Order: sequence, then structure tokens, then C-alpha cells
Amino acid sequence: MNEPKRYLVTSALPYANGPLHIGHLAGAYLSADIFVRYLRLMGKDVVYIGGSDEHGAAITIRAKKEGITPREIIDKYHTLFEDTFRRIGISYDKYHRTSEPIHHETSQEFFRKLYDKGEFVEQTTEQYFDESAKQFLADRYIIGTCPKCNHTEAYGDQCENCGSTLSPTDLIEPRSTLSGNKPVLKTTTHWYLPLDKYEAWLREWVETGVVDGEKQHEPNAWKNHVLGQCKSWLDGGLQPRAMTRDLSWGVDVPQEIPGAEGKKLYVWMDAPIGYISSTKQWAADNGKDWKPYWQDKDTALVHFIGKDNIVFHCLIFPAILKAAGDYILPVNVPANQFMNLEGRKISTSKNWAVWVHEYVQEFEGREDELRYNMIKNMPENRDSEFTWKGYQETNNNELVNNLGNFINRVLVLTNKYYGGVVPAIDQRQRINSSLAPEESASYKEELRVLYEGLRNVSVNIKKYEFRAALTALMEISSKGNQLLQFNEPWKRQKTEPEDVKVVMNLGVQIVAALSVACRPFLPFTSDKLRTMLNLPAIEEQGELQAILEKLEQNEAIVPEGHQIGKGAYLFERIKDDVIDAQIAKLEAANAANAGVEYEAVKDTIQFDDFSKLDLRTGKIIAAEKMKKAKKLLKLTVDLGFEERTVVSGIAEFFKPEDIIGQEIVLVANLAPRKLRGVESQGMILMAENEKGELGFVSPPKDWVTGFTVR
Ligand code: 2FM
Ligand code: ZN
Repeated sequence: MNEPKRYLVTSALPYANGPLHIGHLAGAYLSADIFVRYLRLMGKDVVYIGGSDEHGAAITIRAKKEGITPREIIDKYHTLFEDTFRRIGISYDKYHRTSEPIHHETSQEFFRKLYDKGEFVEQTTEQYFDESAKQFLADRYIIGTCPKCNHTEAYGDQCENCGSTLSPTDLIEPRSTLSGNKPVLKTTTHWYLPLDKYEAWLREWVETGVVDGEKQHEPNAWKNHVLGQCKSWLDGGLQPRAMTRDLSWGVDVPQEIPGAEGKKLYVWMDAPIGYISSTKQWAADNGKDWKPYWQDKDTALVHFIGKDNIVFHCLIFPAILKAAGDYILPVNVPANQFMNLEGRKISTSKNWAVWVHEYVQEFEGREDELRYNMIKNMPENRDSEFTWKGYQETNNNELVNNLGNFINRVLVLTNKYYGGVVPAIDQRQRINSSLAPEESASYKEELRVLYEGLRNVSVNIKKYEFRAALTALMEISSKGNQLLQFNEPWKRQKTEPEDVKVVMNLGVQIVAALSVACRPFLPFTSDKLRTMLNLPAIEEQGELQAILEKLEQNEAIVPEGHQIGKGAYLFERIKDDVIDAQIAKLEAANAANAGVEYEAVKDTIQFDDFSKLDLRTGKIIAAEKMKKAKKLLKLTVDLGFEERTVVSGIAEFFKPEDIIGQEIVLVANLAPRKLRGVESQGMILMAENEKGELGFVSPPKDWVTGFTVR
């Protein structure tokens, strides 16, 4: 396989239904950002594509919860995503959105093409339907128990606990997320992609890297866990998969197709096509042609995703691309696993998360400190964990003590000894090697060590081993520190100035190399370093390639006589109180959520609906048990202007004698209802806790009865 002519790199399009947390960052964004920045620094032709996924049940359910429209939801989160990604330094060439017309058109064209080619199978099947909501329940509209891990809140398309991809019919005890009701089965017609038909070539491609008789990639270049998931799907036998849904929000099935009315594209059909429409928009904005990026075999297409998206990117989307014809397939899908937080799974609903938009606000100027820790703990091959203590440690021990300390020493000493001018040196001079205290080395040999260090970073990034690449980067800095340590310029400047010049000149070369090589990981630090070194800002146009070429020829990268700027501390120590505050914040979320399953908020009502209720303060003045009704008490409530009889289902929690004098709030205009022969003239408001226990909702003590609650 030849070196590709160009790269098209994508990051999963996040659902625009809630903010981004560190798990997202560690999954599909930091990895892609390292990769593309590196490729640009190597002078490659690369386009980095992303955007917001704005369709599917994830959006409409969230909109319903927040009581706003789907459009308002996607606008809100798309704006937040763009801002958050920019602030944490994710360097998209295009961050687009699937609600744009160009995306609707592109995905409809795909659908039309597959339809015209006869790739779909039309099938009428029974699907779950919510009779009260009058809606079919695909994907996230239905929840139930996961057949794989027994998690009781698994969605119809996916279990967020174990990451399994599911169908509504896989769920045990399914229930509607719209009403909580048990669904019924009802027939509906949809277009299916017969994945079974593509199974053979998909298997060959995944397992051997060969597609259409051509070797596209080395199969061992794919991560084991990615191959494992693909194989387990293939071994289980692929089934036809519906590409349409009965929904009101999404991309319309092209209306000229008979039966299209009321049908939308399945979000997993339209979302990955979002990569293509985003590329089209990028090309239009930049006077380029999008086609070679998706259709030329010399393009390397790489999808960065989290493990829950593997099947869609490795089997379903490739099947769609190949069915459409003319499209390339990804050369790699280096999916990451999940990142946990302080020993638990990150959970949006339980607020067990570090939110990236909060981090960039609270820790403004410390974006790289988070990036560093996340890359160091990237869940490349297995789940990993973020802890605030760990974050503090990597910051204090590695960024401050190693990288920051080395850079600061070089800048301060160069300014002190030579007024910031890179010293001219005698290349015949031998100094103590940076590799071992007892060995000597020449200037050129040390440049070679630097070259090897950079190559090591490079090789690991190319293999998608970003943790190892970061370690390799830090080794360059460690060797820089050793160079200083083993040569002790601060002791020898007076006595052996020629040696010290060599050491300090090398120090500047190493810092300059780091200003380039750290960029994929620590882009903000890279910018600061360029300013400190008084070197041109990096534009990510072949700068790493350029310094590698120089170093390979044993040439220095910063010339003698170059005037550098002043040093400043790049990183600051993070104190315990900062970390304690973050842990306290998490614990507060935890306490508020401990073991609690919250009921979904009901449909939004208008103020007029609310004002129909007549709520009054009152007092219980008599209470007795009802015969043959274990749960009921018959109460007399004084409303000041009249007395009411109320039958209330609170007998399990309160004894009649204990509640005489209890102040309450009564729904005073509820239609009377007969319970066990007694007419109940109103309803007392009660709060119910997570254990199902009841408590009175009461006005302030000794409040006058009969007055309105609003
Ligand atoms: O899992 C998710 O958040 C999906 N919205 C990812 C979509 S990736 C792509 F196909 F668009
Ligand atoms: Zn599960």
C-alpha cells in the first residue's frame, strides 16, 4: 500500500442533545485532533471533518424534556459544541450540521440512488407502537432491560451501559419513553438494507483488508477490539436493517418514492453521510473539489469514534457507501473505548461527568493541562479512568516538573548567559551525553538523539498509539533535562564556557523541536513557545517535516545568532483546594442522585392550563380509617369558608390521630369522586420520595386556611 495522496479524517458527529463531557473528548475528538495536526505538520493534504448530529430520537426526546422545539435544542447544543471544541483546541477544517439543506439533499440523493439501484428491500413488519402517543417506538423511544447486561434502562437501539447495539424487539419488558406504557405491535412498511447480502465482502474486507480484489489495508493495523466487535457481528449473521422510520423529525424520504409520506431516514443512515455533506460544504467554502476526498482510491479515509459506534462505521456505513458505488471505504476506524470518571461510568442523566464547557470556563488558560491528562489516559484499547487527583499529578509532576522546568531553564539561562542570543559553537567540542551521565557526545550526536526522539513520536502517531506518542514527546523533554543535569551549565559557565555554549545551543534546538512536536497534543503550549522563542507562528504546514529533514542532515533548526524572547512559566502547579473543589462538586451531584431514578418531566403545559387549578390552604380537623380499605383515610378538611370531606390514600403512612391539625394544600376544584361509597371533595397534595413514601405539602405553620396557592 502506497503512501496516500490525501487524508480525509472524521470525528463522530455528536448528538446535539446535551453538552460534551470528557468521555466524548477522550473518545473521538482528541485522538482525531492529534492525528490531523500531525499530518498537517508533516505537510500532508488532510481535511478534518465533523459536525453535529441533529436528527433522531435523541433530539426530539430531549426537546420534549426541556419543553422546547427540536430546532431550539439543536441550535442550542450546536452553538455550544462549536464553542467548546474551539476552546479546547479541536482543529476541525469544517464543523457542520446535519440540519443544513446541503445535508438533507446529499442524504436524499444517497437514498434515491440506493432505491433506484434496487438495493433496498421493502418490508412490512410489526413494530412497537405507543397507543396513547400514537407513535411507533423505534430507537430511543423505547426502553427496557438489556438482554446482554440486564441494565434496566437500555434503549431500543443501544445499551449505554454495555455499549451493545440493540433492536427494540431485543429488549426485555419494553416500555415507551413517551408514556411509560407497554407498547403494542402494529404493522408498518419500511425500506431495508439487506446487510446479509453484503456479509461476504464485508468479512473479507474487515478480516483481510482486501476489497474488490485489492489490498486496501493490513488487517493487523486495525485495533483488536474493533476487529473483535466486527467479527462478532459477522459471526452472528447480519440481518436486513431498516433505513427509514415513522417520525416527524429528520430527513424526509424523497417524496417521489411511493409510500414516502410520513417517513424519515433512519438517523444512522443520514448521520455518517453528514461526513460527506460536511466535506462538500468545506470544499464549497474553500474553492476545492470534494470528490477526490471521497472517491479517489489514493485517499485514506479514517473515522475516529467511540466503541459504541463501531458497527455503524465498520459495517453499516461501508455497506451504504459500497451499495451507492464510487465511494472509498475507511482504511482504519481507530475507535476508542470508554473513559470512566472517579471509579464510575460517566452518566449524563446522573450528572456524573466533567463537562468540557465548564472546564474551559473554570480553567481558562489551562486547556492543554486537560488535554495532556486525557491523552495520557486515553482509552485506546481498554476502558480508562479520569480522576481529579490524577489530573493534578500529571500536571504537577510531568507538565510543571518535566516539560515546563526544562523549557524555563533553557530560556532563562540563554538570556542570562548570552542576552538571549543563540550562541555560536565549536562543533568539535564534546559534552556529556544526555543519554548517560558517564558518556560523552558531540553536538551532531545530540542532534541525532533529538531526531530519533521526534521519529519516535511520529511513528506512534501513525500507528494511532497516542499515549505512546505522548510518552515519546515527554522523553525528548526528559533527555533535555538530563542534558542540563549531566552538564551543569550553572556550575561550569565561568570555567568551561565553550562546553556550556554547546549545551545551551542544544537546549534551544530541543525547545524549538518541542514547540513543533508538542503541537498535536498541546496546541496552546506550542503557540506560547513559538512566541517565547521568537520564532514564526506555526501554521501546520509541514513544519515538523521541515525540522526532521534538517535534523536528519545533522543540521540545527535554530541558527546561531537568533534572538529568543524571555522565558515564562508555561504551567502552574495545581493546588489541593482546586482539586478538592472539583471532587466536592462531583460528590454533590452524586449525593443528589444517589440511587435515584427520576421520573421524566411531563409534557409542557401552558400557564392557562395551570391557572385552571384552584389550590387552597387548609387544615385536617378530623381523620378516620375507612372500612375494608387498607390504604384510605376519610378526612375532614377545614378551608375556612367551608369544610370538605376528602378520601385520601395515605393510610399506610399516617395514623389518623397523628394528622389532626396538619396543614395542607388542597386541590379545591377537582370534580368530586366516590371512593368506597364516600364522596371525596378534593385532593390533598402529597410529595412522594424515591422510596415511594408520602409527605404533606404544607403552607407555612399557622397559615390562615382557605387562601389560594399559586
Ligand atoms: O453516538 C453518537 O453520538 C452519534 N451521534 C454518532 C454519529 S457518528 C456519524 F455517523 F455521524
Ligand atoms: Zn447492556
